[in-house]
Amino acid sequence: MARILIAEFMDLPAVAQLQQAHEVLYDPQLVDQPARLLDEAARADALVVRNRTQVRGPLLQALARCKVVGRLGVGLDNIDLPGCAARGIAVLPATGANALSVAEYVVATAMLLLRGAYRASDAVAGGAWPRPALSNGREIGGKTLGLVGFGMIGQTTARLARGLGMVVVAFDAMMENDDPAFAESSVAPLGLAPLLANADVVSLHVPLTEGTRHLLDAARIAGMKPGAVLINTARGGVVDEQAVAAALRSGQLGGAALDVFEHEPLAATAHFADCPNLLLTPHIAGLTAESNERVSTLIAQRVLEALR
Ligand SMILES: NC(=O)c1ccc[n+]([C@@H]2O[C@H](COP(=O)([O-])OP(=O)(O)OC[C@H]3O[C@@H](n4cnc5c(N)ncnc54)[C@H](O)[C@@H]3O)[C@@H](O)[C@H]2O)c1
Repeated sequence: MARILIAEFMDLPAVAQLQQAHEVLYDPQLVDQPARLLDEAARADALVVRNRTQVRGPLLQALARCKVVGRLGVGLDNIDLPGCAARGIAVLPATGANALSVAEYVVATAMLLLRGAYRASDAVAGGAWPRPALSNGREIGGKTLGLVGFGMIGQTTARLARGLGMVVVAFDAMMENDDPAFAESSVAPLGLAPLLANADVVSLHVPLTEGTRHLLDAARIAGMKPGAVLINTARGGVVDEQAVAAALRSGQLGGAALDVFEHEPLAATAHFADCPNLLLTPHIAGLTAESNERVSTLIAQRVLEALR
């Protein structure tokens, strides 16, 4: 029987599945108790985390007998992958299990931002009738969606967007233009600069690496189609937040939805004060009742297999 340490929240039936075969310490608050986490890590054969636990440095050193790290999600920027490999620790992400949740967030926020008409409840309930001001919203059908990163989430988003009548183009630095994934999704591959210049909606789906840090900086935002909207569900460091705020205020960006931030939780800074047509959410694009269940079930299965 192995010892499994679960340091962030996991769907309870999946925890129970692990408990049937192994000794499990499940404490969703463990991530916020560094000393106790290090102590427990020394006895763990498997560790299960979301995106807040930093599996590097002292924690990685403490994982003396750990064979596997299960990641309840897909971004791996909180895990020292070479360090894990050097220690023979397998890292298992929940590939694909939250893709639909993120894709639905993208098309929903794209529609909200383009239309710009859904924040009138207080005014309408209060007897105002701001019809002229809300009569020039844009439709999503026929607009061009530019996907930066065409992996699991990018491809799922393309499917939904095509269903809404969008034209979809994508840039992926690791994929050849003749990769069958493009044709199968009726998506045209495009370089980053022409994608930014042509897309009405730009949505980011790349991992955070040294190659993607501030990929959307002030210069690239200036190269976007004026009035386009930007959606970031990838990682905060992929966009320059100050540049996004400035572009919203100047009107270069017609709107933005940001689910992820360079520092989470977002500090109460002046970055985004008075930015028009801006939606901020607390890193929940991939979190729904359904995806939580799928992600936790998949990771429980993968950890059980790895410990067999
Ligand atoms: N906000 C959320 O709740 C949430 C949920 C899930 C995933 N995410 C983020 O979304 C990211 C994408 O997830 P995925 O499942 O689609 O991953 P994926 O690995 O399937 O796809 C990522 C794609 O990005 C491409 N890529 C890498 N570097 C690039 C670069 N410099 N330029 C262009 N393309 C590049 C890769 O080739 C790959 O095709 C994750 O890494 C994670 O950070 C966020």
